[in-house]
Amino acid sequence: MNAQAKQQAADFNIFDLSAPHAKWKELREDQPVFQDLETGYWIVTRHADIKAIFDDWNTFSSENAQAPMRPMCDAGKQIMKDGGFTVYSGLSARVPPDHTRIRKLAQSAFGPRRFKAIQPQIEAIIDRHLSKISAQGECDFFSEVAYDVPALVLFALMGIPDKDVPKVKDWAASRALLTWGDLSDEEQLPLAQKMVDYWKYCRDLVAARKEVPGDDFPTDMVQAQAEGADITDEEIAGLMYSVLFAGHETTTTLMSNAVITLMSNRDAWDAICADPSLIPAATEEILRFEPSIVSWRRRAKVNTEIGGVPIPEGANILLVMGSGNRDDAVFENAETFDIERKNARNHLSFGYGIHFCIGFQLAKMEFGIMLRELTARFPNMAMKPGQQIEYLNNISFRVPNQVMVDLGLEKKQ
Ligand code: HEM
Repeated sequence: MNAQAKQQAADFNIFDLSAPHAKWKELREDQPVFQDLETGYWIVTRHADIKAIFDDWNTFSSENAQAPMRPMCDAGKQIMKDGGFTVYSGLSARVPPDHTRIRKLAQSAFGPRRFKAIQPQIEAIIDRHLSKISAQGECDFFSEVAYDVPALVLFALMGIPDKDVPKVKDWAASRALLTWGDLSDEEQLPLAQKMVDYWKYCRDLVAARKEVPGDDFPTDMVQAQAEGADITDEEIAGLMYSVLFAGHETTTTLMSNAVITLMSNRDAWDAICADPSLIPAATEEILRFEPSIVSWRRRAKVNTEIGGVPIPEGANILLVMGSGNRDDAVFENAETFDIERKNARNHLSFGYGIHFCIGFQLAKMEFGIMLRELTARFPNMAMKPGQQIEYLNNISFRVPNQVMVDLGLEKKQ
């Protein structure tokens, strides 16, 4: 084994996403593949290595993508067992051939047709939220706008009433902490019960659509099954469990981190305000520069190597896309935010290969409308000074705890 690879990187804490970019840069340059001794994970930080691993699902399986970083304590396991919690993953931790079979069906129900049809509803949801904050003059953009909007959009697609938003958002946040966080046994227990409730909700949803069909994603899946598609009720409920998490949490984070990034890159913000046709390119650059999911997991199925470093069979691997996205080997002046960058879309923020994010079109569409409306209504928006933004303690989701903004309305005329 490469001596350099064996060495623990100094000051590297896999769960600390508060200010990771400087450390990632150092790692890309000095230790692009090494084993974190605290967790045993192999950390991979260069773009080419990450992309190659995503692309080789035979050697690097996603089976550990949803594994809890800290295994559930015995009392928590009992709560989940008693509550009939059986789901592990809807898609992201499934492997072929199951993954191929279920993804094909999910994709057919989740295509651009549904996304296009929902555009007017997205505009109305965003309008409602921005009108509300406009009357206030300032707000916490994270909790008052970005938190709810993607969930309301997704719920419309899933045919779920708006009143359930707080409940599902809470379950999703709990799932993030249980799977990707660093919780003590005591902290795990209440969340284990929430996972039981969340799973029951997904199963009840499938049962309800079998009784009374709607015009939504679960109904599409149930109907496909009735027409002979090879998918079980449990697998459809598993998809709900997946999408009711993946389909809003990440977009909430993208919107929030975008505001933080654009407020500190005023030229880019002003350029978009003056010319909204820059929004698609700016969206790619924001995804590259501050991705919602900064890292994702794979497991080596055989003895192999990454970037010349030997990797043993069974090794857990952390692909740090947030680092690969700032790799100078691919992006010129990669640490600079530049909405005119020509190859920003080569970012790895939606993954790559057979698990590439199924909701990327929806996420970009929602985000594009949000940015268009924000720049049109609040061109003088600014971050409230003196705030200390903290980020969720976990390995994958770079979620800020607040984004306090002054909408700058008095300066408008
Ligand atoms: C900014 C928003 C989003 C980001 C950054 C994001 C990112 C990702 C990433 C990194 C993966 C793993 C890819 C891999 O393993 O190669 C993924 C998978 C997935 N995403 Fe997203 N996502 C976003 C929005 C959404 C939305 C809106 C939905 C659904 C409506 C969604 C549904 C999924 C699903 C179901 C998978 C698993 C796909 C599979 O394993 O085949 N995502 N996403």
